[in-house]
Amino acid sequence: MLKVINVVGARPNFMKVAPIVEAMRRRPAEFAPVVLHTGQHYDERMSDAFFRDLGLPTPDVHLGVGSASHAQQTAAVMQKFEPVVLEQKPDWVLVVGDVNSTLACALVCSKLGVRVAHVEAGLRSRDRTMPEEINRLVTDQLSDLLLTPSEDGDRNLLAEGIPPERIRFVGNVMIDSLFKQLKNAEGSRVREELEVAGSDYAVVTLHRPSNVDEPDVLGGILSALKRISQRLPVVFPIHPRTRKNLGEFGLLEGVEGGGRVRFVEPLGYLDFLQLYSGARLVLTDSGGIQEETTALGIPCLTLRENTERPVTVELGTNRVVGTNPERIFAEAEAALAQDGQKGPPRVPPLWDGRAAERILDALLEA
Ligand code: UD1
Repeated sequence: MLKVINVVGARPNFMKVAPIVEAMRRRPAEFAPVVLHTGQHYDERMSDAFFRDLGLPTPDVHLGVGSASHAQQTAAVMQKFEPVVLEQKPDWVLVVGDVNSTLACALVCSKLGVRVAHVEAGLRSRDRTMPEEINRLVTDQLSDLLLTPSEDGDRNLLAEGIPPERIRFVGNVMIDSLFKQLKNAEGSRVREELEVAGSDYAVVTLHRPSNVDEPDVLGGILSALKRISQRLPVVFPIHPRTRKNLGEFGLLEGVEGGGRVRFVEPLGYLDFLQLYSGARLVLTDSGGIQEETTALGIPCLTLRENTERPVTVELGTNRVVGTNPERIFAEAEAALAQDGQKGPPRVPPLWDGRAAERILDALLEA
């Protein structure tokens, strides 16, 4: 029996860990899962709502670190995580994605000689100004088992000198959650509540520091969204960082009064799934949403200069369009001009809803 500490910290972790913990609970003779929340995200809407929607069990351990600078947050997770590992003596610690909690826990384990499995290993934007890229690079170097979502991940890891026996291509576990929850999301009334049911609309999310921390960049993106909103309503669930900055830069009022860009609070997993799955177009700087729109065949414009998820461009519905307002508007026009109906989704290999089982098998074999 393997005792595994499953680490979650921030919003994009929850939908990756939920299917893994559920699969472990189905195999109690082989796995004893512990769920540990670092508390990097702590708002009801950024954390608790996801536990409920995804059926994640209440964390066995909560570190309660909260927000701080990168160094402080990473250090706080490390300080609080180390004694837990010493006490729990797990066979494995499983970390997912690329947030500060991922890196902090991997680093603690590597010093204690406790084995680390990294889910979503090998993704690279090759942009080291992104904090997530640093987290990905270091976590992958430290991990004993690297579980990749797409084959570009394997190639990146091999090119960085990771021995092939540590790498396993298991597919995209976030898509396990997506496929499992599609039916449940139909119970959400979010489209009716936001008055977009039965009509065309666009959905936007933005939270990357490079997009939301500079008034010029954020203002430029907003101007493009306003123009797009003359074509169709634009629903924008706002991340706390983005809301804070819009307020500080004096950008909130203009848009709220200015028509059809509709700011709403961050949505839970099921409401957000029900919202974007009916959208004509999604504009985002999120990593996960590039993948989810590809899995469902919904056109996606990524408002960044690069992506660590090239498979969503090569096989899927994603286009990386940068942050120039003219370009965003032109790309949105072009996407809307295309027939509008969802094409048949071209889902990348092993994005099949069974990644969690393969992750468990890989742990047992390792
Ligand atoms: C983190 C991840 C990012 C991920 C994102 C998803 C890192 C480096 N970044 O970014 O990869 O895409 O989560 O949301 O780990 N805040 C709240 N309530 C919360 C959490 C945050 O108000 O529950 C506010 C605080 O003002 C905080 C700011 O958001 O300072 C940023 O939070 P933080 O966890 O540092 O990074 P995110 O931008 O959320």
